[in-house]
Amino acid sequence: MAPVAAVGASKAATKMLATYQAETGRRMQSQSAYRSYATQVSVYNASVRIRGVAATDKIIARPGTSEHQTGWAIDVSALPSNCSLSTCFANTHQGKWLSANAWRFGFLLRYPANKVAVTGYSFEPWHYRFVGPYLTTEMRRTGFTTLEEFFRLPAAPSY
Ligand code: DAL
Ligand code: ZN
Repeated sequence: MAPVAAVGASKAATKMLATYQAETGRRMQSQSAYRSYATQVSVYNASVRIRGVAATDKIIARPGTSEHQTGWAIDVSALPSNCSLSTCFANTHQGKWLSANAWRFGFLLRYPANKVAVTGYSFEPWHYRFVGPYLTTEMRRTGFTTLEEFFRLPAAPSY
């Protein structure tokens, strides 16, 4: 079962997707949200089989360390699907709207293109982390785009 904290994230995500449809007449969907440890093991291992450990560690969190396991992260895709889980999602109507509006619902683009050295992960324009609207508003006001920089945490360690 997803953690209790995920309920807030789930409601906010539902509202964000519904608002997108109401404001633009287009649609987007949740591609992946809460993942159990076992699911993360499957996702990670499947990637390792295809591309090896080093390349996988740049795009998939090791089991036990994924934000998806907390219930606070969501991978969003266009509906109908277009550039799902690909960097070209950033250029879709949905990707651009999220990038400009997700903060209103408390979601943060967690792995920006220009912060790979800080987050430790490749650009994921589809991955949004719920941190709440107070924090997204404050980060927007102060100009910070990563949690590591806002909280003055060290850059992500390599494995
Ligand atoms: N793709 C992100 C980093 C995850 O696996 O949590
Ligand atoms: Zn994700």
